[in-house]
Amino acid sequence: MNVEVLGSAAGGGVPQWNCACANCGAARGGEVAVRTQDSIAASADGDSWLVCNASPDILVQLARSLHPRGPRQAPFGAIVLTNGDIDHCLGLFNLRESTPLVVYATDAVWRGLVEHNAMARTLRRFPGHTTWRPLALGVPTPIAEVPGLAVTAIAAAGKPPLHLRDYVAPSPEDNIGVVISDGHRRIGYFPCSASAQLGADDLDLLLFDGTFWSDDELIRAELGCARASDMAHVPIDGGSLHAFAHVRCKVYTHVNNTNPILRDGSPEHAAVAAAGWEVARDRARYVVEIPEPQPCVAAPDAQVRQA
Ligand code: MLT
Ligand code: MN
Ligand code: ZN
Repeated sequence: MNVEVLGSAAGGGVPQWNCACANCGAARGGEVAVRTQDSIAASADGDSWLVCNASPDILVQLARSLHPRGPRQAPFGAIVLTNGDIDHCLGLFNLRESTPLVVYATDAVWRGLVEHNAMARTLRRFPGHTTWRPLALGVPTPIAEVPGLAVTAIAAAGKPPLHLRDYVAPSPEDNIGVVISDGHRRIGYFPCSASAQLGADDLDLLLFDGTFWSDDELIRAELGCARASDMAHVPIDGGSLHAFAHVRCKVYTHVNNTNPILRDGSPEHAAVAAAGWEVARDRARYVVEIPEPQPCVAAPDAQVRQA
């Protein structure tokens, strides 16, 4: 199975438009990798692709990684949404150019997107423009549009998107991780989780919430008053760092621009590396071999390297 990181940053990206903090400045200066907002693509055959999350940067991400093969053709078979956050959904509206779209999402996420939302009509320009396929928790759902792949939605500790706070009752379907399987290998993609306990095991590769190094990261940097836990992200330090010891290949993604792990020489980066984690970069590709299990290796700039 192939996974390409389309975007590895939390909402705002790296650098963030309104920020000149140390990391954002270093990204502008070329000392920290520029990162777009969180999304991955997965494929069983390297040919048909499933895009997980439609980030506001999706047009740039597709232009550099996934290309159509003919006039008016989507370069992916379907899209899966893990929650209704703006950094995971806004890109859908950039895909409105009259090619049919298939979107897999839980009932709660889909309703949050289309109910009372006049802009959702731009995805219904003609009959069959956008097809919603419901994801039920815990049930493997074959992705008919991407041969060989099935997705299981796993409830992850989280919350409704900020713009629905106080409008909807929280639901276990608000925020999911997905286990993507080709029948042999299992890849977990949990970009947002308030807990390091996952309802998924036997993963060959895990891409996990690396939003914040510490719970009080925004407060200490005087960039906000919310704790990681208020935002439903488990911090790395004291949270996810030493979890998932059994997973062979572990990658932090959805990394916020304040997170010190973005700096290769930082003690925090050294700590995650020592605990067996990689820090995702845009366009890193992970190849999980079938049938011989091999350690997967990140290859920057989409060069596929195999161990
Ligand atoms: C999050 O990951 O917590 C959200 O993307 C925050 C937001 O929507 O601004
Ligand atoms: Mn986010
Ligand atoms: Zn910044």
